[in-house]
Amino acid sequence: MFLIFPDAESLAEHVSATLVDQIAKKPEIVLGLATGGTMEPVYRRFVEQVKRQAVDLSKFRSFNLDEYVGLAADHPKSYAAYMYEHLFRHIGHDPARHFLPDGLAPDLSQHCRDFAQMIRQCGGIDLQLLGVGTNGHIGFNEPGTPLDSRCHVVALSERTRIDNSRFFPEGAIVPATAITMGLQDIMEARRILLLATGQGKAETVAAFHDSDVTPDVPVTVLKRHPDATIMLDAAAASLLPPDVRERCAASAAMCMPLRRYA
Ligand code: F6R
Repeated sequence: MFLIFPDAESLAEHVSATLVDQIAKKPEIVLGLATGGTMEPVYRRFVEQVKRQAVDLSKFRSFNLDEYVGLAADHPKSYAAYMYEHLFRHIGHDPARHFLPDGLAPDLSQHCRDFAQMIRQCGGIDLQLLGVGTNGHIGFNEPGTPLDSRCHVVALSERTRIDNSRFFPEGAIVPATAITMGLQDIMEARRILLLATGQGKAETVAAFHDSDVTPDVPVTVLKRHPDATIMLDAAAASLLPPDVRERCAASAAMCMPLRRYA
């Protein structure tokens, strides 16, 4: 379940190669996408790779996990703007194929139901990328979120707002609420890759390893998924038991042939 890479760049390279590989096998793939610092090197590599290899991206569809309530898509700190900046402006943005929740939807509850329904109408998510918050959230499913939750509006925890303040100008107020896919929506993805990099995630990763499935640490729900891989760099893995680190570093080494795409 764990794959440990020497550093964030080699992890990003592997994830990018996996995406290219999966799109080549199934051009109409439905991807679940995440934002945040962890994903930036992944999208950077992916853009480089698809340009170098002239990968056909005309058919894939994507759904993003979350969006801040109250921020328009063209607000520089919205997740729509993040996706445009890091991915879509480089590969072409077709709003009919790439979907994010709308933080300005007039009826948010209805919008959440429509968003989850749209995922189902597209046949569900083939491959979901996830990051993890320091408090164990995935998407914006904060500690205490029911494991069977669907797309919903969430009050962001103080911890998440502090963590994410690094993306906002000094003194700016981080939105207090967001729309997020629910844990059940995420669990319905056919395959999940969760990425965690840096020392700041080491305690979260150790908590994931040590805990049974519990809403207190939402990421633990992935232990029930039949095809979820937890991809770590050495820093994020540093508090895992030494035998786990040894075993999982070895299996990451075995994945390295995928690097032929780099
Ligand atoms: C973002 C998302 C969040 C982030 C998580 C980690 O779309 O769903 O769960 O993945 O907060 O963020 P970073 O990568 O910035 O540490």
